[in-house]
Amino acid sequence: MIKKCIFPVAGYGTRFLPATKSMPKEMLPIVNKPLVQYGVEEAMAAGLTEIGFVTGRGKRAIDDHFDISYELEHQIEGTGKEKSLEGIREIIDECTFTHIRQREMRGLGDAILTGEAIVGDQPFGVILSDDLCIEQEEPVMAQMVRLYNQFRCSIVAIEEVPSDQTEKYGIIQGESIKDGLIRVTDMVEKPKPSEAPSNLAIIGRYILTPDIFDYLRDTPPGKGGELQITDALRKQAKEGCVMAYKFRGKRFDCGSVDGFVAATAYCYEHLYQEPE
Ligand code: UTP
Repeated sequence: MIKKCIFPVAGYGTRFLPATKSMPKEMLPIVNKPLVQYGVEEAMAAGLTEIGFVTGRGKRAIDDHFDISYELEHQIEGTGKEKSLEGIREIIDECTFTHIRQREMRGLGDAILTGEAIVGDQPFGVILSDDLCIEQEEPVMAQMVRLYNQFRCSIVAIEEVPSDQTEKYGIIQGESIKDGLIRVTDMVEKPKPSEAPSNLAIIGRYILTPDIFDYLRDTPPGKGGELQITDALRKQAKEGCVMAYKFRGKRFDCGSVDGFVAATAYCYEHLYQEPE
C-alpha cells in the first residue's frame, strides 16, 4: 500500500514575481483555496495520507496552512464561517505532515532525493502542486495508484502537448501496452521540437519505486545544471520498468500565468460554491 506522498515545494516561482517574493507559489489561491491544498486533497483521495513537503526558505505559510489556527477558529466558532474551514480541518485530522529542507535549489531530481529521508524504502507518490489536476470521479493520483497496484513499477502521468511546446517538459518514447498506457523505452528532458521523440509530456504526477533514489544518486546534473528526475527515470526505464499513463482529467499549468488564469476561470465555474 502506498501511503506517502512527496510535495517538492522549494521552487522560487519566478514566473509569478512579485507575488511570490515572500509568499510560496504553492499558496497562490485558485478562487479561495491554495494550490497546495488541491494537491493534498488529491493525495488524500488516493489514500496517500503521509504528506512530506520538501521545502526551501520562505515556505512557512505552507506549514501554517496545514496546522490548526486556534485564534482564528475560536474567533469564528458558532458562526456560518466555520464551514469554510471544514475541508482543511478534515485534511489536518486525516493526514500527517513532515517537512524537510532542500539545501540548495538543485532541481526536481535533487528535491525528490532529499525526500528519501521521509520516504525510506517504499514506493511513493510525487505531486507538483503547480500542476493542478481536476477529475472529480477518480482524481489523477488515485488512477495512478490503481495502475501501480497492477504493475508495481514507477508510473509517470503524461499528456499530449502541442509539438512546439516540448521544450517545457520531459518527453517520453515508448510502446503502447493498452489504451492510455505506454511502457517507456526512452525519455528526454525539455527537447527542442525537432529533437523530441513524441509529443507526450510528463506532467507533475509520479509514482516512484524506491530504487529511484539509487538512480538519482548516480545521475550527474543535466539540463540547466540541475539534477533531473527525467534522467534518473530514463535509466530506470532502460534497466527496469517505467509506465507512462495518459490520465483522465483536466490539467492546468498553474506555474504559468496563462494556466493559472484558465484554472481560476474553470474552478470558479465548475467547483466553487458560494458560502451560505
Ligand atoms: P519549476 O520548474 O516550476 O520551478 O519547478 P519554480 O522555481 O517552482 O518556478 P519558476 O519556473 O521559477 O516560475 C517544478 C517543481 O519542482 C519544484 C518546484 O517547487 C515546483 O513544484 N522544485 C524545483 C523543487 O522543489 N526544487 C528544485 O530545486 C527545483
